[in-house]
Amino acid sequence: MAYKTIQLQKETSTALVTIDRPNKLNALNKETIEELEDVFKGLQKDKKIKAIILTGSGEKAFVAGADISEFSDYSVKDGKKLAAKGQKKLFDFIENLSKPVIAAINGFALGGGLELAMACHFRVASDNAKMGLPEVSLGLIPGYGGTQRLPQLVGKGRAMEMIMTAGMITAEQAYAYGLVNHVTTQEELIPLCHKIISKISNNSSVAISYAIKAVNAGFKNTVNGYEQEIEAFGACFGTEDFTEGTTAFLEKRKASFPGS
Ligand code: COA
Repeated sequence: MAYKTIQLQKETSTALVTIDRPNKLNALNKETIEELEDVFKGLQKDKKIKAIILTGSGEKAFVAGADISEFSDYSVKDGKKLAAKGQKKLFDFIENLSKPVIAAINGFALGGGLELAMACHFRVASDNAKMGLPEVSLGLIPGYGGTQRLPQLVGKGRAMEMIMTAGMITAEQAYAYGLVNHVTTQEELIPLCHKIISKISNNSSVAISYAIKAVNAGFKNTVNGYEQEIEAFGACFGTEDFTEGTTAFLEKRKASFPGS
């Protein structure tokens, strides 16, 4: 199948998946989410593929979030559906894939972009990368698992601060937080992922798939947290703050929240 927003390259036993909407900083619109679902389903079934690298097109962004321009007419119900469908069909699917998935964060990884990177098994960043969950600046909360996976990776206090301030951290800070495992130059980013994969590929892929299952099982007690996130994400779409936050972004001005 030919994809409009994704490039898929297979090199021996590794697949490189590139989200390809550079003019929109690779923001995740409906089509991109659907195409990613299809790509990852195919890679899970592809017996020749042993590892996957996920990255963004261009030099500026991994993924700058969910596509805010699609949110304007969303209701509470639509918001809940978006989070529930996205979490189950894509983000949880990637997390539970039986072969290693590495996020190569080559620039901005914001909102849904950071959530996508966090759904991967681990992350490597280029030194220009910036990461954050800016949703509350739009009158929203993270809806693709971010309220659950960020505290798992960086600890509750750091996650709370990142979510509440809506700020961005640098690649070095993300390394110090344990959010990314390595930081390198942009040129070296994909080669470094390949080097790590070549080490992984010396090992039993069956054992690796069991290890992924076992590690993920340790975090299953957060299932209710994901449900809570879906409810709360949906509820945001019924607020005046959400309307103001997203309209202000699209009009390129600072939001003035009526609820504040
Ligand atoms: N949804 C939709 N479009 C987005 C987007 C998003 N999440 N992030 C970036 N874009 C678009 C911009 O609207 C712009 O489109 P245009 O050229 O048609 O106007 C294009 O991508 C380039 O972005 P721009 O804002 O001009 O780049 P910048 O270098 O000035 O700023 C960011 C980069 C990442 C700081 C800024 O784009 C941003 O804040 N994006 C939104 C991040 C966010 O809140 N994500 C969470 C969503 S839930």
